[in-house]
Amino acid sequence: MAKTSKQKQSKKYLWLSLVGVAAIAAAAVFFWPKANTSNAQGVPDEQLLMGETIFKANCASCHGLTGQGHQAIKEAPALNGSEHSWHHADSQIKTLIRTGGVKMPAVGKDFSDEEIAAVMVYYKQWWGKQQRIFQEKVSKQNP
Ligand code: HEC
Repeated sequence: MAKTSKQKQSKKYLWLSLVGVAAIAAAAVFFWPKANTSNAQGVPDEQLLMGETIFKANCASCHGLTGQGHQAIKEAPALNGSEHSWHHADSQIKTLIRTGGVKMPAVGKDFSDEEIAAVMVYYKQWWGKQQRIFQEKVSKQNP
C-alpha cells in the first residue's frame, strides 16, 4: 500500500519536533552555567544551593562573596584557589569551621555534617580541577 500524503506529513512533523527538542536541550545546557559548575564536581545541585546559602550568611563577610578573601577581617584568606585553602584536608577544615582558628570564629559550631559538607562543596567550585584532585588526595591521607 502506498503511503498517503497524510502519513508522510506526520513523519515530517515527528522529525521537526525531534529537532526542536534537541535544540531546546542544547540551549538549556548552554544557558545554565550553575548546572555546569556543579557538574565539575559531580555533586547534586541542591547540595551546592544549600552551600551557597550557608556561605553567604556565615562566611562571605570575611572570605568574600566570590571567595576573594580579606574582607571584614583582613587576615581571612581567599578560598577561591588563589591562595592555599586547597592544601588542607577536609578533616582539618571541618574542625576549623566547628571550633574556629586563630582569628576565625567557630561559625559552624552548630552545623550538621551535611551543612559543613555543603559549604565546603560551595567554595571548592572556585578551584581548578588540579587543585581539587590534589586536595582530594590530601583528604584521603588525613581522614
Ligand atoms: C570573622 C571572619 C571569618 C568568618 C565569618 C569565617 N572565616 Fe574562615 N577564616 C578566617 C580567618 C582569619 C582565617 C585564617 C585562619 C585563622 O586565623 O583562624 C580563616 C581560614 C579559613 C580557611 C582556611 C583557608 C586557608 O587558606 O588556610 C577556610 C577553608 C575557611 N576559613 C572557611 C570558612 C567558612 C566555610 C566559613 C563559613 C562557614 C568561614 N570560614 C567563616 C576568618 C573568617
